[in-house]
This record gives sequence, C-alpha cells and structure tokens, in this order.
Amino acid sequence: MEFPKILEKRRAVNYFDPARDVDQNLLKKIIEQAGNAPSSYNLQPWKLKVIRDMNRKKALRALAFDQPKVTEAPVILIVLADREGWKLEKSTVENVFNDFVKAGKMQAEQKEWFAGVTQGLYGRDEIAAQAFANKNTGLFAMSLMYAATANGLESHPMDGFDHDGVRKEFNIPENYWIPMLIAIGYLNPGTETPPKSWRQSYTDMVIE
Ligand SMILES: Cc1cc2nc3c(=O)[nH]c(=O)nc-3n(C[C@H](O)[C@H](O)[C@H](O)COP(=O)(O)O)c2cc1C
Repeated sequence: MEFPKILEKRRAVNYFDPARDVDQNLLKKIIEQAGNAPSSYNLQPWKLKVIRDMNRKKALRALAFDQPKVTEAPVILIVLADREGWKLEKSTVENVFNDFVKAGKMQAEQKEWFAGVTQGLYGRDEIAAQAFANKNTGLFAMSLMYAATANGLESHPMDGFDHDGVRKEFNIPENYWIPMLIAIGYLNPGTETPPKSWRQSYTDMVIE
C-alpha cells in the first residue's frame, strides 16, 4: 500500500471482530516495523505489554471507562514510555552508545560524556524526562498504527483510562508513563469505518 493511502486509510476503529485473532508473527512484524521510528539520540525509550488474555482485557476494560473495544479487539497494547530511558545503565542506551562507537560517531572513552549530555537534555528535571519519554514513544505508537494499517489490520489509540489504576493492575514500574493503549485487530464485518472527521488545513496549522 502506498504511504498516502495508509495515511488516509488508518482510522480509530471502534468495532473489532472479536472472532478474528491477530497472528503472533504478524504482530511481531508490525511491532518491529514500528521500531524504525526516530527517537532522540536513537534512545528508543518505549516498551509494550501485549494483552491477549480475556480476563486481563476485562480488568483493563474496567479501568478504561468500560470501552467495549478493549475486550472486543484480540490484542491490546499497553504502551509504555520510559522516563529513565536516557540513563546509562539501560541496556538500550548501552547498545546505542556501542553502535555510535562502531559507526565511528563517538569514541569509547566518551561514555561518561554521553551520559552527561543525555542527562542534561532529558533527565534534568521531571518535565524534561516526561517530555523525552512521551514524545519519542508517541512517534513509535504512530508508526505502529501505520504499520498495522499497512499490514491489513485496524487500530485504535486510547488515553481514556485510569492511569494509576492500570499501573497498579498490571504492575507497571514507576519509571514508565502510559501514554496510551492501542487496540489492534480486524474490523467487525457488520460495521463500517466512520466518515473521515474534520482536519485542520495548511492555513489552520501554519501560524505566524
Ligand atoms: C492519544 C489518543 C488517545 C485517544 N483516546 C481515545 C479513547 O480513549 N477513546 C476513544 O474512543 N477514542 C480515542 N482516541 C481516538 C480519537 O478520538 C481519534 O483518533 C480522532 O477522533 C480522529 O479520528 P481517526 O483516528 O479515526 O482519524 C484517541 C486518540 C489518540 C491519538
């Protein structure tokens, strides 16, 4: 599918086919495709919890204003944004730094300097850490939804949920913020995607 078509076709679908599962290999494929998303210093401060079990989905739905799609979609992704994803002790940061060294972009002895740079940019206070985690994870989440569309799936992002309740129920550590849940599945055959909703034009979006 051409990218402009993917942009047009992706919709927040409300009615998923509860009888049609999402193949695990297909899910793995779209998650890894989404992993091509850009991020600050390539730090990739995102993680996912994949929820397929009906009892876990029921518990999640109860914390998500009883939105039916939470139990109707075969897969719900709890998207996690790591507010500490800039710290040197993270394995992702270690891998990113080693990759920079391998590519000749940094010297091995610059590790502490690199840690200082990321701390200064993304860890200097709570707002900076929150922004770092959520802007990068938002780009990943968007990529994931487009990857889903490109692979014949439907999706629906949700931030209508009790953040602290979900944290507690799913044992999510404090370093993560939960920017959204994403339902993934197939359109219920008896339903249609809603007509396209209003969007800002170029002149609405570009300000002086
Ligand atoms: C971060 C985020 C959170 C959202 N949360 C919800 C939600 O909790 N429930 C819901 O029904 N729709 C939710 N939506 C869907 C939006 O209402 C929808 O994307 C928007 O109306 C545009 O429609 P479209 O995605 O079909 O183009 C959310 C969208 C985003 C990006």
